[in-house]
Amino acid sequence: MNKIRVLSDNLANQIAAGEVVERPASVVKELVENSIDAGANRIQIDIELGGRRLMQIADNGEGMSRDDAILAFERHATSKIRTAEDLGSIATLGFRGEALASIASVAKVELLTKIEVDQAATRVVIEGGRLIDVKDAARDTGTTITVRDLFFNTPARRKFMRSEATENYHLTSIVTHYALAHPEIAFTLTNNGREVLRVSPAKDLRERAFQVFGGGLLDSLLPVEGGREYVARVSGFISAPRERRTTRDSQYFFVNNRFVRDKTIAGGLLEGYRSVLPHGVYPVAFLFLEMPLEEIDVNVHPAKTEVRFRRGEAVKDVIAEAVRTTLAKAGITGDVQPERFIPESTWTPPPVSAQPEEEVVEQHGILFETMSQEESHAAVAGIGMQPEPNLRLIPEPNEARFDTAPTIDFVDEIAVPEERLTVSGYAELPPVDSAAKLPKSVEVVDVASSKYNLSASFTTVLSSPSMTKAFC
Ligand SMILES: Nc1ncnc2c1ncn2[C@@H]1O[C@H](COP(=O)(O)OP(=O)(O)OP(=O)(O)O)[C@@H](O)[C@H]1O
Ligand SMILES: [Mg+2]
Repeated sequence: MNKIRVLSDNLANQIAAGEVVERPASVVKELVENSIDAGANRIQIDIELGGRRLMQIADNGEGMSRDDAILAFERHATSKIRTAEDLGSIATLGFRGEALASIASVAKVELLTKIEVDQAATRVVIEGGRLIDVKDAARDTGTTITVRDLFFNTPARRKFMRSEATENYHLTSIVTHYALAHPEIAFTLTNNGREVLRVSPAKDLRERAFQVFGGGLLDSLLPVEGGREYVARVSGFISAPRERRTTRDSQYFFVNNRFVRDKTIAGGLLEGYRSVLPHGVYPVAFLFLEMPLEEIDVNVHPAKTEVRFRRGEAVKDVIAEAVRTTLAKAGITGDVQPERFIPESTWTPPPVSAQPEEEVVEQHGILFETMSQEESHAAVAGIGMQPEPNLRLIPEPNEARFDTAPTIDFVDEIAVPEERLTVSGYAELPPVDSAAKLPKSVEVVDVASSKYNLSASFTTVLSSPSMTKAFC
């Protein structure tokens, strides 16, 4: 008797959902990306109970016709690519045509959508992958997707969800990422009915960063502008060395406006700071890479938060160079050996209780570490956001603030004489075609584990009296 069977569509979708829908924040990521791809300039995200009970994303994008609204839930149904060639030049955030099918297979989903030329909107209800209802409804042009009871039919997956506070942290983080990547779009995020983030359309990244993080952080941000032809153009902001974090949580990386978690970019950033930041502390950074579409492969994982660069080393160098140039322009030179300047008397290691109780789980989703409830409470308040007219934080009862590392003042930050400034320019690199022979870069997926290791080893070293001595 034959033993091989083709899986049912629904089961195949549930399996795919394992990679696409890691946690509530992955659902919000996919739906917000769809809204952006639909050309929305207003996106409203409402969350209840850390996304377990409800996630609703409403946009004023182009919407879907009735036929498309039903087809959208089919696996591999997409309006974004048509041929294999299109895969080589993906300009949209989505393209795999599996996000909605995956989400609908593990939740109760209602889609309400209307295109401009239609009189009526369409309401589609799908639960656990089963089409329940399709009918006319009322709505302006655009789309609202409501996702209830995530993992209601997959109890094993439900168990992997973390505390409400942890999920809230990830949800806030993902919306913040997209708010930074798209200053032209108005975003609103509410949590259990309370407004967490509200930003109106901004003229550029600087204005958006101000809306989200407030003037305090903005004062210490230095504009980055650099890059090399055929590799990447680098723009955004990085922090002066005095503004620092004990985690990489305040580093936001984007490749062609797609939010990515990427070790090459993180490595290039740190390389740029190598001689002005001590080991184990991290700068704040909003780094945007613009690159030719054929220089990157975004189709390396269903969650699409990873990219593979064709020339990873060159990308890393370009970022490091742009960072060094920015620091040099601000009079911050690379001549200081930071560790030597840590005054012994003022340095005390962070209290052990303040260290993130991170647990690095194998992640295919967007954020890779889990945290203690205490930390994530604090993280929601402490990812760098400050109360501003446009932003209110969720008041958490007995909220614990996550202690940041003690501030280390550099004794010397030597001003660079004008003639020593690094001049950024375009190096002569082979054009794209002749570069085909260059080795492909290999991207390491798990930024979080390196973060984990770094912070762990940092604490150990500095907690040990003999090592501290050796450092000072
Ligand atoms: N908010 C929306 N507004 C308009 N159309 C949408 C919206 N969300 C989804 N769609 C349509 O439904 C299709 C399927 O969406 P889905 O997210 O499943 O796939 P995708 O975005 O094409 O690819 P991926 O799986 O990589 O996200 C999209 O291609 C798009 O045409
Ligand atoms: Mg999509």
